[in-house]
Amino acid sequence: MPSPAILFPADPLNPRRPDPHFAWEARLLRDLGGVHHLVDHDALLTGDADDARGAVRRVPEGVGPLWYRGWMLPSARYAGFAGALAARGGNLLTSPAGYAAAHELPGWYGVFEGATPPSAWIPSGNDGDGAAAPGPRELEAAVARLGGSGPAIVKDYVKSRKHEWHEACYVPELADLAAVGRVVGRFVELQGEFLAGGVVLRRFEEFDRAAVNGGEVEKRAVEARVWWLDGRPILVGPHPDAPHQVVEPQLAGVSSLVRTLGCRFVTTDLARLADGSGWRVVEVGDGQVSDLPRGIDASGLLTSLIAA
Ligand SMILES: Nc1ncnc2c1ncn2[C@@H]1O[C@H](COP(=O)(O)OP(=O)(O)OP(=O)(O)O)[C@@H](O)[C@H]1O
Ligand SMILES: [Mg+2]
Repeated sequence: MPSPAILFPADPLNPRRPDPHFAWEARLLRDLGGVHHLVDHDALLTGDADDARGAVRRVPEGVGPLWYRGWMLPSARYAGFAGALAARGGNLLTSPAGYAAAHELPGWYGVFEGATPPSAWIPSGNDGDGAAAPGPRELEAAVARLGGSGPAIVKDYVKSRKHEWHEACYVPELADLAAVGRVVGRFVELQGEFLAGGVVLRRFEEFDRAAVNGGEVEKRAVEARVWWLDGRPILVGPHPDAPHQVVEPQLAGVSSLVRTLGCRFVTTDLARLADGSGWRVVEVGDGQVSDLPRGIDASGLLTSLIAA
């Protein structure tokens, strides 16, 4: 079987070049002897089958096995992407079902339950398009599933609005249903058409924290991002939000969970509980669309991908 090639998003301003955000990765891949092709990310996002075909027109016919390294795609768009590639003999090594399982919290939560903060979710019932906020009854039921009291955070199936922490992310007390409704309502409003899947409430846990950018005002959880291929860690580094942080997570309990999930290429973000009692999985992601921290040595990761 030929070595997998890697697909990167093209620069919207210069479609023959990789998007500037991924240019260093594409260059490193070439230096390592790998092959890349470019796809049109904007065209993949429309959801139209003709656009998906056009998005992959620069990928050679009969290319064989493929990985993607690029911007996030909604799971339905990833399925269209895989279909358009298959029609020209390209085989994404992460299936659409595998992508959804790693990318969306309800897809991985069952496997990681107990190792990740308890979570409850409310499907929005449509795929973006400015979903309505959940009603008070649905929120009350979700709060009850989390035990009814204590602090929590709000996100959708994929992303939070951690930069609007007090307004649209952090809930100081779940028992205050009016406050839960305000934070969730603001979150849904700000996500707008980009709301992925539905609203998730997660019990807040106290992690080790460090000042962001050396500042003193805001302190964020110190997270390690671990990259897994076929159940083995191929890169352990900081979270891209704090690329210079030194992290040494314990992986012992996590690797068996990653193997159970069964997706070939995933990331896990890990944080240490402030009471020193261990490491928690903050979230799981598809390795193809997880951001790499600036300045990290990704040669081992890319070498593993093209040898897979
Ligand atoms: N259950 C929790 N308890 C405490 N802090 C949390 C919890 N969940 C998330 N956080 C904090 O909020 C941040 C954002 O949450 P999360 O990583 O789930 O969202 P995100 O928007 O997907 O982030 P990313 O940039 O990693 O993709 C985390 O980095 C962590 O600092
Ligand atoms: Mg995160």
